[in-house]
Amino acid sequence: MRHILAGLVLSSTLVARAWAGQPTQIYGVNLGSWLVLEPWMLPQEWLDMGGQSCAVCSTCIASESSFAKAYPDTVDTKFAQHWDTWFTQDDVNALKAAGINTVRIPLGYWIVEALVDRSHESYPRGGLDYLRRGLGWLQDAGIQAILDHHALPGVQTAGQMFTGNCTTDVQFYTPYNYHRALVWTAVMTTLSHLDPNFGSVFAIEAINEPIMNATLTPNYGTFQKNFVEVMRAVELTIGIFVPSSSLSLSVPASVSNNFTAALSATSSASIFSTEVQAALLDAIPILLEIGVACGLETIFEASPFRQSRDSLVANFMDVNWQYDNPSNPADVAIGPQAYDNHLYYSFGGVAAADPKSYMISICNLTRIQTDAAVGDSPLWFGEWGLPTQFNATDAFLYQWADAQKLAYSKGAGWIYWNFKTEISSLTNGNALARQWSYLEGLKLGFFTQDPAALHDPNVCVPYMNSTTNGTSS
Ligand SMILES: *[C@@H]1O[C@H](CO)[C@@H](O)[C@H](O)[C@H]1NC(C)=O
Ligand SMILES: *[C@@H]1O[C@H](CO)[C@@H](O)[C@H](O)[C@H]1NC(C)=O
Ligand SMILES: *[C@@H]1O[C@H](CO)[C@@H](O)[C@H](O)[C@H]1NC(C)=O
Ligand SMILES: *[C@@H]1O[C@H](CO)[C@@H](O)[C@H](O)[C@H]1NC(C)=O
Ligand SMILES: *[C@@H]1O[C@H](CO)[C@@H](O)[C@H](O)[C@H]1NC(C)=O
Ligand SMILES: *[C@@H]1O[C@H](CO)[C@@H](O)[C@H](O)[C@H]1NC(C)=O
Ligand SMILES: *[C@@H]1O[C@H](CO)[C@@H](O)[C@H](O)[C@H]1NC(C)=O
Repeated sequence: MRHILAGLVLSSTLVARAWAGQPTQIYGVNLGSWLVLEPWMLPQEWLDMGGQSCAVCSTCIASESSFAKAYPDTVDTKFAQHWDTWFTQDDVNALKAAGINTVRIPLGYWIVEALVDRSHESYPRGGLDYLRRGLGWLQDAGIQAILDHHALPGVQTAGQMFTGNCTTDVQFYTPYNYHRALVWTAVMTTLSHLDPNFGSVFAIEAINEPIMNATLTPNYGTFQKNFVEVMRAVELTIGIFVPSSSLSLSVPASVSNNFTAALSATSSASIFSTEVQAALLDAIPILLEIGVACGLETIFEASPFRQSRDSLVANFMDVNWQYDNPSNPADVAIGPQAYDNHLYYSFGGVAAADPKSYMISICNLTRIQTDAAVGDSPLWFGEWGLPTQFNATDAFLYQWADAQKLAYSKGAGWIYWNFKTEISSLTNGNALARQWSYLEGLKLGFFTQDPAALHDPNVCVPYMNSTTNGTSS
């Protein structure tokens, strides 16, 4: 499989990054359940693979790690088949035809296989080849990508399939796991700039959905600062200009043909914190290994690597994602940065469970202004959907899609969860996909063919005070 893929992934042209400091309006979808599999989105395929279904996901084989632990000998083959079929060139064509310009790609820490401590952690191997192939397709289609660190080492929140390990034992907010996440960041930043397949990547997201209670995420602010520094340290090593940065770094001429050796020199630069230095150093042997596995040795070790490219956008969940004295990622910006908020009405706590309350809430949404007031701008809505706590009519879903798109477009744009979900008897036909799949919602007409359009641009008028226009409440 590796050999076949190596032939397919070659793609030499780099698309210009669309962001370049100025936000492009984002019309996006998540590539969820591809490289981080969430069984609820594909219940039949999961059972066919050998997974199980249970009410509390920690009690059966209902996550990637429990699967890998149960099937150590076949997990890689089973997942290779999933990666090969869940997201394909046909999907890229469909997204392109739907006018989608951005994808957010949820990734686990285990895509950097050397970071997995196999003494007590189990995950499938081989995902990186599929990521590279998929990014190549996206680049050819002109669709830009966000690499989203969605499932963190040690697990960032309890009891969720999307962390790869359903457990109440949350260990991410510790020095050891912050370190592993920083090494991941160094590897992904390097690949984003030096692997031609990664040319459509314009942003890296530090962590998906940390615990909301900031009291329970000690030193998360320091991690945010280090995350930005790791990205910028790699970029400065490559010779990339980082706007509004006072950091400067000179790469010794003796290593100008060996990026990994240059990174080694950077790892002792005293302008960076000791955590950042340690992460850069630990990334080097991993990059050497990936270089060999992916045919990138010449690029990583034996050619001039200095490039004039745009620096990547550092992406964080916004400060208002957390409460109880959260650290504000805006405080640690060096170079381009953007913020992510997620909004689901179906899980409760946002509005009363009826169509009118939903519309009043979304039409008066103030999250963009609230974030901007503390520097968390530009803001995009990196996850949202059509799900509701009530049985929604088609007539309502037309309005619900319009009103959400309208609200999120007042910021940097929107990224739907998800590009697709399974349609099978276990999902009651398209009952799941109707409110969770962008491609199904498009087929059913809830979404307009042009994602920038609305069925009714005045959809919110009855639900807004004409004087406040949703800006002052
Ligand atoms: C899941 O996470 C827990 C808590 O961090 C850890 O002890 C366990 O080893 C993990 N399981 C696997 C299979 O990775
Ligand atoms: C946040 O967590 C702390 C520490 O466990 C706890 O004391 C506090 O009550 C929590 N805050 C809320 C609003 O739950
Ligand atoms: C490049 O540098 C790395 C790190 O110092 C070293 O391990 C590797 O052997 C070098 N490669 C070449 C081709 O010199
Ligand atoms: C939605 O419809 C289903 C099937 O018609 C029904 O079983 C369920 O109780 C309804 N749910 C609500 C919240 O009305
Ligand atoms: C939203 O709009 C509704 C309807 O005009 C109005 O009653 C309400 O005060 C507005 N503000 C908020 C925060 O809901
Ligand atoms: C908004 O409009 C509603 C009626 O739709 C009214 O009850 C409310 O007082 C208005 N709020 C403001 C701030 O004007
Ligand atoms: C309300 O917002 C719309 C579009 O966002 C704008 O065209 C209109 O002028 C605004 N009206 C008021 C009264 O601010």
